[in-house]
Amino acid sequence: MAVKTLRRRIRRFTWELLPPVARNFIKFTYASVVGRVKRRRPQVEAFGASTAAEQHDQLRAQLEEVNVNVPTKLCRIMTRYGSDKGAGWHNYTTVYHHLFTNLRRKQVNLFELGIGTNNPNLASSMGVDGKPGASLRGWADYFRSGQIFGADIDQNILFNEGRIKTFHCDQLRKSAIEEMWASSPLRDEFEIVIEDGLHTFEANVSFFENSLHKIRKGGYYIIEDVKQNDLPRWRERLRSHYSVRYSEFSFCLVNLPWKFNDSDNILLVARRH
Ligand SMILES: C[S@@+](CC[C@H](N)C(=O)[O-])C[C@H]1O[C@@H](n2cnc3c(N)ncnc32)[C@H](O)[C@@H]1O
Repeated sequence: MAVKTLRRRIRRFTWELLPPVARNFIKFTYASVVGRVKRRRPQVEAFGASTAAEQHDQLRAQLEEVNVNVPTKLCRIMTRYGSDKGAGWHNYTTVYHHLFTNLRRKQVNLFELGIGTNNPNLASSMGVDGKPGASLRGWADYFRSGQIFGADIDQNILFNEGRIKTFHCDQLRKSAIEEMWASSPLRDEFEIVIEDGLHTFEANVSFFENSLHKIRKGGYYIIEDVKQNDLPRWRERLRSHYSVRYSEFSFCLVNLPWKFNDSDNILLVARRH
């Protein structure tokens, strides 16, 4: 066996002997140092009503400041709970920490669609090793005074725990979405709504059109995992339809460079003026 191969095997063996906490510590510390030298910024396209161009530019500039190579506190938190948002298949937590850091100590209302089923027979499953509720627990840890809500089509993974409450919802059914928003714990508006559900264009549109009214002034509505192939449809819809219908919002399509994923590491970020 070549010396090089032997060395690689020993290194991998030693790495796997380390507990996950130690591995993550080394990974994140190394990435923080290297990321400060090798910066990478997201590609951002802004949309919205022409009367509010300044707000769209502001949002775009804020998003373009993010260095996606430097892990944030939220990356560490989400990884610890087992969500793939923080330096796993996706690196969205670099953007989220940048947008939400000033809200951390506030009593935010946050809602996330998609709790993370581990039933392999359901669409958008996290697989048998997935941890249902991972990102909701991560949000509760990050927003220490926040009320955290979630929903999913899979009834079996619903749970209530501390400041977290979850609901049943099928995002393809308008009536199910309306019914959910009408339930009393969800009557207020939200600082943050994140859609991490079915991840088809039709499902995104259905939940978006029936939920945007829940966003408070200054709040965010974010769709995760927008597909490269769906970008032309999104651009067209944002430019010709949503900019007019939702003129109180700025919209940005945010393409995050990431070594593990160049197919669906795109966010749609909407901020209410
Ligand atoms: C990628 S997982 C969510 C992961 C979780 N947010 C996290 O970061 O840990 C996607 C979830 O969307 C749910 N889902 C699939 N189709 C749905 C639908 N029609 N309505 C609501 N949720 C749906 C799945 O059951 C699954 O739990």
